Amino acid sequence: MATKVISFINFKGGVGKTASTVNLAACLAAYHRKKVLVVDLDPQCNSSLWLLQPEEWRKHVDGAARSVHQLFRDHINGTHVFDFDQAVIRGVPRRDGYPLISHLDLLPASVDLLRIEDQIYQNKYSQFFTFLHKSLKPHFSEYDYVFFDCPPNLYAVTKNALFASDYCLVPYVPDYLSLSGFQVLAEEVDLFAHKISGFVTGRRRVSIAALLVSHYRKVGNVFDHSINELEIQLAQIKAAGQVHPKTLILHPYIRHCVAVAESTSEHLPVTLHKQTSNGAQDYYQLAQSFDQHFGSLK
Ligand SMILES: Nc1ncnc2c1ncn2[C@@H]1O[C@H](COP(=O)(O)OP(=O)(O)OP(=O)(O)O)[C@@H](O)[C@H]1O
Ligand SMILES: [Mg+2]
Repeated sequence: MATKVISFINFKGGVGKTASTVNLAACLAAYHRKKVLVVDLDPQCNSSLWLLQPEEWRKHVDGAARSVHQLFRDHINGTHVFDFDQAVIRGVPRRDGYPLISHLDLLPASVDLLRIEDQIYQNKYSQFFTFLHKSLKPHFSEYDYVFFDCPPNLYAVTKNALFASDYCLVPYVPDYLSLSGFQVLAEEVDLFAHKISGFVTGRRRVSIAALLVSHYRKVGNVFDHSINELEIQLAQIKAAGQVHPKTLILHPYIRHCVAVAESTSEHLPVTLHKQTSNGAQDYYQLAQSFDQHFGSLK
């Protein structure tokens, strides 16, 4: 299978971008023998801290040199310090030095990533969105999937992720405000994809190709109503050609589940933390439909 590079995006915060990046990556690597790279692009460092213990993370990034921040800093300063093989952590999470999921690799973030946005805008690079792709492209072929865990915005770092990606996946918590946000997000991604098309040669231009529902609760019919509305909106957006023609809402929906929240402080994907929980079962099944869907996209 050719590598699929996928950005997990939504400019709404707390909708499960990190949870789905980490848990889908873990299930694909552990149960489907896929080789997966998670790239943490968020200065909150949430996927790094989910998959590493704080001490392990601090020691590894050590002043940000072995983190994704250095990659951006090199492009800004004209240096060549970033070394993928030094920065990537192969087989995460680890316990007593041994990988628990050998096919899951992590390129961690550091909080210094916060400064990159300002530095990029101050320097007014015309092709700032190509930095990430230039540095990581030689390593993509090692993987079946490369996942970018994006911050909750569409600023410079997320635009780098979009430029480097084949597809986007949008995690979505069904409510009225998210619905209006999705339309704007689809328009913005489509607009950006058109803008960069002159720079994208010999590969597909990024498009939104799937949504997933997170924090799902069967209370009243608020959630089901919102998902129906989302289906209707998605059909319109598809007809307007603003997303991939095969875009769908993946199943099953990820239920709200305490074990998922708990697993963050255990620094484990939920499938390793509590395999029998609703969250672990939902992500296990979601990984199957995710792999089928993205495997079928040309
Ligand atoms: N299925 C779930 N059930 C319960 N809690 C969850 C679930 N999925 C995620 N959470 C919790 O919800 C919070 C937000 O999730 P997450 O960090 O994945 O969102 P995000 O979109 O990445 O947020 P941000 O925009 O800040 O990056 C986290 O504290 C996480 O532990
Ligand atoms: Mg996040």
